[in-house]
Amino acid sequence: MSFQVKEIKTKPYDGQKPGTSGLRKRVKVFQQEHYTENFVQAIFDAVDLKGKTLVIGGDGRYFSPETVQTILKIGSANGVAKFIIGKDGILSTPAASNIIRKYKADGGILLTASHNPGGPNADFGIKYNVSNGGPAPEGVTNKIFEKTKSISSYKVIELPPVDLSKKGFSTYGPSNVEIVDSVSDYLQLLESIFDFPLIKSFLQSHADSFKVLFDGMHGVTGPYGRAIFVEALGLPESSVQNAQPLPDFGGGHPDPNLTYAHELVERVEREGIHFGAASDGDGDRNMIYGKGAFVTPSDSVAIIADWAAEAIPYFKKGGIKGLARSMPTSAQIDKVAKKKGLECHVVPTGWKFFGNLMDAGRLSICGEESFGTGSDHIREKDGVWAIVAWLNILAYANKQSPNQLVGIKELLEKHYAVYGRSFFSRYDYEEVSAVGAQSLVDAINVHISTGSLARTSHVSKSTGQKFTVADVSNFDYTDPIDGSVSRNQGQIITFDDGSRVVFRLSGTGSQGATVRMYVERYVPAEAGPAELNKDTQEGLKGLIEVALQISNLPEFLGRDKPTVIT
Ligand code: G6P
Ligand code: ZN
Repeated sequence: MSFQVKEIKTKPYDGQKPGTSGLRKRVKVFQQEHYTENFVQAIFDAVDLKGKTLVIGGDGRYFSPETVQTILKIGSANGVAKFIIGKDGILSTPAASNIIRKYKADGGILLTASHNPGGPNADFGIKYNVSNGGPAPEGVTNKIFEKTKSISSYKVIELPPVDLSKKGFSTYGPSNVEIVDSVSDYLQLLESIFDFPLIKSFLQSHADSFKVLFDGMHGVTGPYGRAIFVEALGLPESSVQNAQPLPDFGGGHPDPNLTYAHELVERVEREGIHFGAASDGDGDRNMIYGKGAFVTPSDSVAIIADWAAEAIPYFKKGGIKGLARSMPTSAQIDKVAKKKGLECHVVPTGWKFFGNLMDAGRLSICGEESFGTGSDHIREKDGVWAIVAWLNILAYANKQSPNQLVGIKELLEKHYAVYGRSFFSRYDYEEVSAVGAQSLVDAINVHISTGSLARTSHVSKSTGQKFTVADVSNFDYTDPIDGSVSRNQGQIITFDDGSRVVFRLSGTGSQGATVRMYVERYVPAEAGPAELNKDTQEGLKGLIEVALQISNLPEFLGRDKPTVIT
């Protein structure tokens, strides 16, 4: 049978350049006539998917169901042979990455704006992933952007919408369609990685002394959380909250950090819960938080890397090929790599930079300060993976220490006692004026080119600590596998004592500019527990003061306080 392919005339829209993680804009922007269609056609123009298999899924946010149908119309008119779609259009980002890899699909379109709020007045996003299951590299996203600039028409096959709520096989015009369960392949994957029997027996034998709470934040991970924590690990129903995915995330900001996951933080503190964890809108971020113990993501990945080869079957079997972090992430993991004799790569912000290293067999475990942690089991960061990794490690550590309960706090303290501690915090100045943000960047660039800050000393008024500038630089990265170069990925001020401050503009905002300031100070193990186990903000107070002074950030941005501190 032949199906009529229609050509619809259109005009280019400005600004369809994919950012750190795809094209993210307000829903209202995507709802403009031909806007979404243009971008989707640009993907098919940039990447030839004729006769190929394409995965579609997302975090279920507002405007997702209609966009799935748009992709079907345009994709089938552009010759896609098969679509694999998550039931109801839902796949967490890690689950989508897994499905692309497992079913050897040629790519995937993910409908998500990650942790940004959803709903008619909030954000939507479209992201293209390639056949290794990871986000498209810049070469591909630039090509998509180029296509959006000259588009004059898009192709469609107009047919009644596909019912996304029924699993199984059907067709859309000339294309085959398979609707798959959103959770089962992912659950299988995690069961093949972690020691589920060990975790289950630990949780069962500590049902009263070790309580667990998982918060889905009304994002996509609720059903995954329930399948894993309640059904597979036997925890009570009360150990998951906000587990129903909602198109507007219940009006919340589905970002697992101390500010936005406050509901989890409050319950953990009030009820004395030992292990709390949350994931973001599309399920790739995570936060680990136990009573009185917040795990900064930089420490989280270091601790997972430290224990993995011993405690986690996947790494016990396959070994650890290498470690990595993004540049602004603290150097805690570097210490682990050094002790274990592993290579440790430092890449720009953005998960896509880990993909080549993984594909080349040089990287097993990596993480970012932006609440991303993961491994080479897929090519996206994986929130639920990180949470189960922590449970696996805790179960293992407790097996070794049968007489004394090892919780999150004890594990952190044990880690600092061996490796020392990189105190780390991030200050976010959200939606500031783009002009102010640029002036800040320009001023630091002047310091870089003239060397005007080198060897200057700065004293914190409140702590009396003195910091002497050793170097100021811009972070440029050359990918060791394909040689591609990414410049100006953040400005770094390092001090004589190894402390550093990084300034960077966010690449994921949808409005105005967001400036991030990352502060890090290393305290060696010899300093002893009183120093090592200090509160983070206390440990960093002097350095933060000096960073604000040197950069004149409050003046440039017109803000005397950050919007979010993590
Ligand atoms: C997304 C990417 C992460 C990255 C983060 C940075 O979540 O998947 O890999 O770390 O964005 O966001 P930013 O707003 O700092 O550019
Ligand atoms: Zn996300």
